[in-house]
Amino acid sequence: MEQHNNSSLLKNYNRLPVEFVKGEGSFLFDANGKKYLDFLSGIAVTSFGHAHPHITKAVHDQVDKIWHTSNLFEISLQEKVAQKLTDQSKLSKVFFCNSGTEANEAAIKFARKFGKGKSTIITALGGFHGRTMGSLSASAQYKLWQGFFPLTPGFTHVPYNDIDAINDSINEDTVAIMIEPIQGENGVIVPSADYLKKLRAICDANNLLLIVDEVQTGLGRTGKYFAYQWAEIQPDIITLAKGIANGLPLGAVICSEKVADAIQPGDHGSTFGGNPVALVAALAVSELLTEDILEKIQKLGDALISRIKNLQLEKVIDVRGCGLMVGIELDASINVKDFMKELLENGVVTGTSGNNTLRLLPPFVINQKEIDLFLLTLNKVVDKFRQAEVKQLQSRQVGTIILK
Ligand SMILES: Cc1ncc(COP(=O)(O)O)c(C=O)c1O
Repeated sequence: MEQHNNSSLLKNYNRLPVEFVKGEGSFLFDANGKKYLDFLSGIAVTSFGHAHPHITKAVHDQVDKIWHTSNLFEISLQEKVAQKLTDQSKLSKVFFCNSGTEANEAAIKFARKFGKGKSTIITALGGFHGRTMGSLSASAQYKLWQGFFPLTPGFTHVPYNDIDAINDSINEDTVAIMIEPIQGENGVIVPSADYLKKLRAICDANNLLLIVDEVQTGLGRTGKYFAYQWAEIQPDIITLAKGIANGLPLGAVICSEKVADAIQPGDHGSTFGGNPVALVAALAVSELLTEDILEKIQKLGDALISRIKNLQLEKVIDVRGCGLMVGIELDASINVKDFMKELLENGVVTGTSGNNTLRLLPPFVINQKEIDLFLLTLNKVVDKFRQAEVKQLQSRQVGTIILK
């Protein structure tokens, strides 16, 4: 399961020994033609599945026209996608970049510029906002920081879903609270239903900005266009990436009018950000992300969670999530990474996150038959682990008898 020793690639990834060479809807195919059900979507990226005809055609057409011009010139595709994002969020202006970490870096800069000297941003323990120095410093996970000190100053970290801790940590230098509506990388942690509403009230009372990191939860993943909409609040800044262009690199920051007013020409920029090829994919995604599909995501997600719960699987201690962002927490007798590898062996692609949690991020194009296939495989794999455990116990008992 290790990367080849003779690889020319940096060993920062623990890659699994499978290469997918083709994708079609909810399925992936490896070089040997083996078919896999994709319940990971490239970590919440290929939300409309692989080779979606509408997105693929849009990209093909654009590739034949023009690839890149730079942000020195007008790019009307950016206007079109920005219009969709501002319509949906009721916010005012959009900046395009290439990834989630870049979107959060930009959000941090915009908040500080707005703060006119105030610089501290409160973030949550266990949160994940990216790997570049600003976003990394915002991501309160010691394991990510180790080896990379000193961090960027200006971040205070408090327990997630703890309102008192937020109140206690505000001081005269605080400019913003930056939060994930559901902590994705920390094990699909869903906060109390009123958490974001309370954060909004704290921000209003203290003149702070509320930055919502929707990089993983945004663009339909939870069954709403943005996950914060479940709480019926209005953020000041939203950051997006992952599913925004179904696999082409794109990130975005949506800002309120007052934040946008603080940004002047030259304050921030990106060579590739808002590239026409990525933008045409984002436009196609936005055309597919209708009320009907959002409703379908909610229904499929609810069905997936309740059907996993109904299996009453031994070894599963919790099933949680929202829409098609689901975590299955396993008990300590199984290592979730081994479990995920066994699912892969059995033709189902999933991920892991946080505390021994299997992470499911299926594409929005899945159907009941594909959910049935997933549940069947899940059951089979749980059974395999259970049988292995029974065998181990039996062999220990035999050992005891022999000893006697
Ligand atoms: C909530 C959140 N923010 C930011 C990021 C970083 O995004 P990227 O890997 O595109 O830089 C991620 C990636 O997993 C994420 O889940």
